[in-house]
Amino acid sequence: MDTAGSMLYEGKAKKIFAAARPDQVVHYFKDDATAFNAEKRGTIVDKGVVNNKVSERLFTLIEENRISTHFLKRLSDREMLTKKVAIVPVEVVVRNLVAGSLAKRLGLPVGDAIEPAIVEFYYKNDALGDPLVNDDHLRLMNVATPGVLRELRELAHKVNAVLKPFFAERKMQLVDFKLEFGLFHNKLILADEISPDTCRFWDMGTGESMDKDRFRKDMGKIEEAYQEVLKRVCG
Ligand code: TMP
Ligand code: ASP
Repeated sequence: MDTAGSMLYEGKAKKIFAAARPDQVVHYFKDDATAFNAEKRGTIVDKGVVNNKVSERLFTLIEENRISTHFLKRLSDREMLTKKVAIVPVEVVVRNLVAGSLAKRLGLPVGDAIEPAIVEFYYKNDALGDPLVNDDHLRLMNVATPGVLRELRELAHKVNAVLKPFFAERKMQLVDFKLEFGLFHNKLILADEISPDTCRFWDMGTGESMDKDRFRKDMGKIEEAYQEVLKRVCG
């Protein structure tokens, strides 16, 4: 049986439960939304369902391209069974177009193409507000070795090479996205989720945001955007 056991952890957007097997866990996707290190809080109706189904589709696609992920199967509208990994506390951000914190930090024009894509590392630490860090910082803190960082960067570029054309076929520009990786039997595999919470998508026709930026910036039509992503990705 793959039904959820006791709760192991509650994050901002997901709860993690024990599974029947000790090397697996069940993720429950909530509708809770936060932004700016949880300074802003709200609910996006059925976000959990959308993020679970979109993540299932994208993890399956990535696995088909011979990149290992924690995904095993979707159990219900809001539940996913995965391998139990030890998360590497690094948020790996890939950027194809200038937006968000990159535009702000460097004063670059929003929407400018970044060719080839760039990868950034953020140290996953709420108390510090997930600071941007470089390889030396992560090595200093014993978070990751140069070898692991090289692998994270390579995997991030490979995932981008799979996702970018997939979204382009659906008339969505994959502006940027955040990945998390975990160790499973000493191997780095893709973990967490890939969803409108963790990516920026711009509609190729209208240029409109179809992701969590609509919540971050109070742009309205938030639920509609999440449902549209679900339709284009899984429909
Ligand atoms: P940023 O431009 O705010 O640094 O965000 C880059 C990408 O990372 C964007 O697609 C949204 C995603 N992201 C998360 O998934 N979690 C976060 O906490 C933040 C700040 C960004
Ligand atoms: N996940 C982040 C938080 O609440 C914010 C974001 O995605 O912008 O803190």
